[in-house]
Amino acid sequence: MATPSDKTRTGAEDPHAELFGPGLLKDRVILVTGGGTGLGRTMARRFARLGARILLGARREEPLRETVDELLRGPTEAAYRVTDVRDPESASKLVEEAFRRWGRLDVVVNNAAGNFLARTERLSPNAFDTVVRTVLMGTFYVTQAAGRGWIERQEPGVVLNIVTSYAWTGAAHVVPSASAKAGVLALTRSLAVEWARHRIRLNALAPGPIPTPGAWERLLPTPELEERIRRHIPSGRFGRHEELADLATFLVSDLSSFITGQVITLDGGEWLVGNAFQALREVPESFWEGLEARHREARGSRPPPGTSPDTDQRTRP
Ligand code: COA
Repeated sequence: MATPSDKTRTGAEDPHAELFGPGLLKDRVILVTGGGTGLGRTMARRFARLGARILLGARREEPLRETVDELLRGPTEAAYRVTDVRDPESASKLVEEAFRRWGRLDVVVNNAAGNFLARTERLSPNAFDTVVRTVLMGTFYVTQAAGRGWIERQEPGVVLNIVTSYAWTGAAHVVPSASAKAGVLALTRSLAVEWARHRIRLNALAPGPIPTPGAWERLLPTPELEERIRRHIPSGRFGRHEELADLATFLVSDLSSFITGQVITLDGGEWLVGNAFQALREVPESFWEGLEARHREARGSRPPPGTSPDTDQRTRP
């Protein structure tokens, strides 16, 4: 199959947006973690087109600024806050920013993630810890902060957690992510019950592979692997950005007001024949050696600790 075009990978086009009423999310305040790039940006764009005010939180400022600038050219308000969801204080400041700026928060989309392919026996403790803290603890910190805000104000809220089918099937070679996503799913179901009396709904959305530059580089680094995984999916193709945006819109809006504690899968039938990453158990050792060499090289060229603006607290209108 041809490599997906840039537009397909970034979701810059949204042919389905007009299928929903333009006011469906009017004046809602929606927080998307990891929303400066990839699938988070796709969801943020769609929510903004439907009238929502958007707050993005992620570690890298440049993509956040670019996405917010783009959203501000549309009909809505948008802002960002540089955030590391692994840090409970940073996560709770992000949530507070929504209440401070707009006096309300309607929806949280926990989309920030970390993942890479590896032979599990070669992982360092810090590698496992980094992914689990981003995916599981990050989701918990943001969700707890939002829940506290809603319960204190006696206002309703919606949480949408982005997982994937290996949250319940497991998957070879993405063990930290699979372990963390399983935790996120348990958190979703548990809190859906605990917080229903506070009018807080929580659901999970489990997309199969949808082309984004970040995921493709990390998870499908060779054309052979991409093709193998595409063929494994019963529908014979990858997901499309607008398909994710459609389902996310449904799950955060009043269209799904009686749905809580569910995981909805969007994967062309993939998980019924086994999560596609399971195919990685058949790749040759040279594949892993190549990946590890690339990782070592990338680590070698990293800036020294303490020089990253990861925990910068600047905000922007
Ligand atoms: N293979 C093995 N170990 C890896 C790895 C890889 N490809 N990438 C990172 N690690 C290890 C590092 O070596 C480090 O462990 P060490 O200190 O024992 O060497 C640990 O993981 C943390 O990596 P580091 O790069 O310092 O953390 P970070 O916070 O800068 O990056 C990641 C976090 C690794 C998850 C990075 O991929 C990331 O920022 N991802 C965000 C986006 C993302 O992954 N989205 C999901 C798309 S599917």
